[in-house]
Amino acid sequence: MEETREHWGNKLGFILAAAGSAVGLGNIWKFPYITGENGGAAFIIIYLLCILLIGLPVLIAEILLGRYAQKGPISTFRNYAKRHKKIWMAAGALFFLTGFIILGYYNVIAGWSMGYVFESLSGHIAGFSSSGDAALHFQKLVSNPLWILFWHFVFVATGGLVVYFGVKNGIERIARLLMPIFFLILIFLVIWGISLDSNGKGLAFLFKPDWSTISFKTVLIALGHAFFTLSVGMGVLLTYGSYLDKNDNILFCGSMIVVLDTLIALMAGLAIFTSVFGMGFNPAEGPGLVFNVLPAVFSMMPGGSLFSLLFFTLLSIAALTSTISILEMLVSTLLDETRFSRHHIVIVVSALIFILGIPAALSFGSWSNIRLFDRTMFDIMDYLSANILLPLGGLLIAVFVAWVMKKSTVLNELYRGISENRGLCRTGNVWFFLLKFVAPVLIVLVFLSITGII
Ligand code: PHE
Repeated sequence: MEETREHWGNKLGFILAAAGSAVGLGNIWKFPYITGENGGAAFIIIYLLCILLIGLPVLIAEILLGRYAQKGPISTFRNYAKRHKKIWMAAGALFFLTGFIILGYYNVIAGWSMGYVFESLSGHIAGFSSSGDAALHFQKLVSNPLWILFWHFVFVATGGLVVYFGVKNGIERIARLLMPIFFLILIFLVIWGISLDSNGKGLAFLFKPDWSTISFKTVLIALGHAFFTLSVGMGVLLTYGSYLDKNDNILFCGSMIVVLDTLIALMAGLAIFTSVFGMGFNPAEGPGLVFNVLPAVFSMMPGGSLFSLLFFTLLSIAALTSTISILEMLVSTLLDETRFSRHHIVIVVSALIFILGIPAALSFGSWSNIRLFDRTMFDIMDYLSANILLPLGGLLIAVFVAWVMKKSTVLNELYRGISENRGLCRTGNVWFFLLKFVAPVLIVLVFLSITGII
């Protein structure tokens, strides 16, 4: 018996929820620090190319596949793979696994940002006299297992609560409420940051490329990040797409999500680098950039407590709307595959994620010595998911939609709800070409380059 699948209230609800998924720690925590580590503007250009040539086409394919199948990843592959069903279902299972890994470490950073909201409220954040003090404070907090596990728990529970209420009443409602607040805070911080960057160093770092900093490894990082920041390659957007109305325009929705995500990453970069350079700090600080440099920057500003409160609220909102999207993918997969209720599934999955996150959470303190290939558990989860599993997932989606499904079926699904004309058909064909040839070839090339084969 077919149960009726929940759907978004309307197209805007979908765009906000999907943009909420895309815009996350990736944009505000990760993008600035990897840009800082990889030389600034030249890296940004490569990242934008990856978004345009690979991320956008695969994102549209993923949403399309979800809407077409009206199911989560495993069932989608089971129902529509004509041959090699088992292999395709394993691909669906890989998406599921990737979701767990990402959530395990993502919630840890999200927990830090929530913890920093409270640190800001209690006046601990804006009183540092040097960046060393701010870094020390950060170090003290993240090496305290109680602090880190408490906030990890609070964050997992908050995400679980939203997903517990379902697609329309939980996820869509939260996205509608939080995304506009998010945007307003960000605009405010950008304007403030630019006013600090009196000699334009921050702007130059972001917009004047220095190509000598680029290597194949940089390209891999840019590619991995393109997938990560768009939430593409693990079935999250497939799941969100499966709640989409048959008559909503996927090309438009997909492009909106990508534009919003990219815009917000650049705005976050602007806000952060103008402040960091304006106050004379180092941009290549690594994962701690927003936690141990920004508080020092805030300390030097008038009204710093307010800015730190705003900033970490922004970060927490972004993280929450992303967390819930991954959680929803996991929950909806289990809803498809088992007979348990949403409520039970949410509770069990959240508990598992909390447990899985513990090694990542402790990587900054008591477990910092437990290493594999010289990486902590946290680093391994981050590297494996963002640089390997997501691009691999993206490759699988591109291959499935462009090579396994019939082109006419795919284009029919793409054109649903849009009045067909020549311009549209041309756009559809360009998209299909990018999906069928350009994206897979580029992904494989980047993979080969890291294995050292080319
Ligand atoms: N896109 C999110 C971010 O930028 C992270 C994410 C990855 C969410 C994969 C869902 C799926 O923070």
